[in-house]
Amino acid sequence: MSIELSKCRICESSNITDLFDLGEQPLANALVYPVLPGQLNVSEPKYPLVLVQCEDCKHIQLKHTVTPEEMFVDYHFHTASSPRMVRHFASIINKFLPKDGLVVEIGSNDGSVLEEVTNNVGTSDVRLLGIDPSRNLCDEAFTRKVATHCAFFSKETAQGVVGLYGKAKLVLCANVLGHVPDLNDFVAGLKLLLADDGLLIIEVPHVLELYDRLAFDTIYHEHVSYFSIKCLTELMNKHGLYVTCVEKQEVHGGTIRCHIRSHGGNGWSVIPDILREDIVNLDWHYFEVQVGLLKYKLRSALANMMLEGKQVVGYGAAAKAAVLLNYCNITTDLLQYVVDCTWDKQGKLMPGTHQKVIAPEKLWDILQQQAGPEVMLILAWNHAEEIVRKEQNKYPNTTFITPDLITVQARAQKD
Ligand code: TMP
Ligand code: ZN
Repeated sequence: MSIELSKCRICESSNITDLFDLGEQPLANALVYPVLPGQLNVSEPKYPLVLVQCEDCKHIQLKHTVTPEEMFVDYHFHTASSPRMVRHFASIINKFLPKDGLVVEIGSNDGSVLEEVTNNVGTSDVRLLGIDPSRNLCDEAFTRKVATHCAFFSKETAQGVVGLYGKAKLVLCANVLGHVPDLNDFVAGLKLLLADDGLLIIEVPHVLELYDRLAFDTIYHEHVSYFSIKCLTELMNKHGLYVTCVEKQEVHGGTIRCHIRSHGGNGWSVIPDILREDIVNLDWHYFEVQVGLLKYKLRSALANMMLEGKQVVGYGAAAKAAVLLNYCNITTDLLQYVVDCTWDKQGKLMPGTHQKVIAPEKLWDILQQQAGPEVMLILAWNHAEEIVRKEQNKYPNTTFITPDLITVQARAQKD
């Protein structure tokens, strides 16, 4: 079910205008099982996907909310599938690890980040707790011996956690806030959870990066908010939280990391170089035209490769892959397979466009060709370097391209 927004998720104004319409889309993470002969072919639900902006506080968000239970209770993104991401988030916690007390990761996924942090905690009095709403991921976290509270984070969840374990000295909330329909309730929970001298670290994709990189494929139903520093700061201030520092990160396709405390006022105005905010003057009509051009060029390139008899496979059955394939109408006539290392995506089909998802090691069997595919289209472009580094030894004759048709060459490993 999807519900149309009647007021802004931050300031509750009803003064909202459309920016960019992606049409009706299936849920980007809802991979489907192939239909076996004799089985009923149940059509997948599709929901409108429209980016809008609040004219009052300028917050950019989705016009429709799909019930979170439909998207997160059984979730197929596993942090463990990207060791680079695990190291990245674990290093943030390790850097600010207190000597004792509670450390909480909200959106702890499969527990792999906290498992990595455990090695650093040693015999100190630090207690680690994950919070995540997905049953399947919490079960995985338990097998990693990571204490996990299985719930959507909210004011009520925070009250429960504080009652059981006390307030937190360090809270990491990375790539979560954008998924939250009721922002005010969530942030009220953060305020409650954070100890007086505690540090809250929030990492969110930066809306300016979405715009600059033409990353329309990062717009999907799970991501209800697209933050600017201005709107994030105002949201925090509304709940007595203050942004003391903002850093830019390259790790997840361009994110901002904010340090937030319970008192002291905002301090980010001391870092002017990343304040090329702003959202106010972005031209979304231009954005739409550029996205249309990308679609045209990508479809033409795939059609030409097919006519030339070249084998092309997609790489990375990420949510952004589903948005790109659906928006560009790339069905199995243009692209047959998407490779992905996540075991519970393998054997299923991409939502809406129905490419089969296969394990990297199955590619040889399927292509039956010694040289491998001529082209790999890296749909999970935020992991392009990591993927190319991993695959180019196996497929030295393959060209790796991103959806904007740029060829990727892996540099020497840095991290
Ligand atoms: P994400 O863009 O949401 O992080 O999803 C990335 C997807 O790409 C996820 O399904 C795992 C997959 N993946 C691989 O198959 N191989 C890899 O080397 C990496 C880094 C990701
Ligand atoms: Zn607003």
